[in-house]
Amino acid sequence: MALHPDPYRAADRQPDPLQMVQSLESRGRMPSQVRLRRRFLAFAGIRPGWKVVEVGSGSGVVCRDVALVVGEKGRVVGVDPSRVFVREARRLARTSGLGSRLRFEVGDGRRLRFSDGTFDATLAVTVLLHVPDADGLLGEMIRVTRPGGIVAVQDQDFGALALDHPDRALTQRILDGVAKKIYADPWSGRTLFRKLSSLGLESVRLLTDVYQDTTFEPWTRTFLQRRAENAVKWKMVGERDAERWLAGIEARAYAKTFCLTLNFYGVVGLKPGGRTR
Ligand SMILES: C[S@@+](CC[C@H](N)C(=O)[O-])C[C@H]1O[C@@H](n2cnc3c(N)ncnc32)[C@H](O)[C@@H]1O
Repeated sequence: MALHPDPYRAADRQPDPLQMVQSLESRGRMPSQVRLRRRFLAFAGIRPGWKVVEVGSGSGVVCRDVALVVGEKGRVVGVDPSRVFVREARRLARTSGLGSRLRFEVGDGRRLRFSDGTFDATLAVTVLLHVPDADGLLGEMIRVTRPGGIVAVQDQDFGALALDHPDRALTQRILDGVAKKIYADPWSGRTLFRKLSSLGLESVRLLTDVYQDTTFEPWTRTFLQRRAENAVKWKMVGERDAERWLAGIEARAYAKTFCLTLNFYGVVGLKPGGRTR
């Protein structure tokens, strides 16, 4: 069967899933991402001693931060369909010294194996935009959260990706065209507030945050190079235009005027029927 354009739909079938792990880790280490992730976790209101599940845990970047928040008495479970990601997440958790609070297992977020009300909080970070049945995944997250517990999701919104480039029309063609082809919902971020509200969660709150890069980080460079390669592969632009586009980006970086921003929408709601502990 042909591979879907989104590599995160089937990470283990990609040519190099370990490279994807490196990419998740290098994204997770960037100061702007660290700030954004920790701000979201504080906004979610996760507390020491809690039992938390992260759906779509990847290499475990978010789980390791949650493990610090829940402390020694808390427990964190990461669930991901990728065997490679789960294996690497376990290895990285051991290396971080947080292994005893953290567990990773293989599974699809749309069919969680946990009983109703198992967790104090359920999380999904940069996952829903990749999933064709995002409502099904959210329904499962709500099911396994205890009454009064927290459901917290955060997604980028590729309709709110801004890059300062001399050729604006070409920039739009590449960035919008590729995002539309890859993601189940490239504009997922802005839909989350409505989705959590309409699924019956209470006290739904939104925190919009911005990833920003003015130093042209290696992760951003690879991200933009992949966008250009895919735009050529999917015949959205010719090779020459893609090269010209990348050269325009390098010129901004050389002049120290590179600027890219991307909105992240974090939404938190309470499962009805209980009180937060
Ligand atoms: C961009 S990564 C995010 C990983 C991690 N949450 C982070 O922020 O570093 C998206 C993750 O969603 C996972 N994923 C894709 N489809 C999924 C599904 N149906 N259920 C659970 N996870 C899924 C992928 O395997 C991948 O690990």
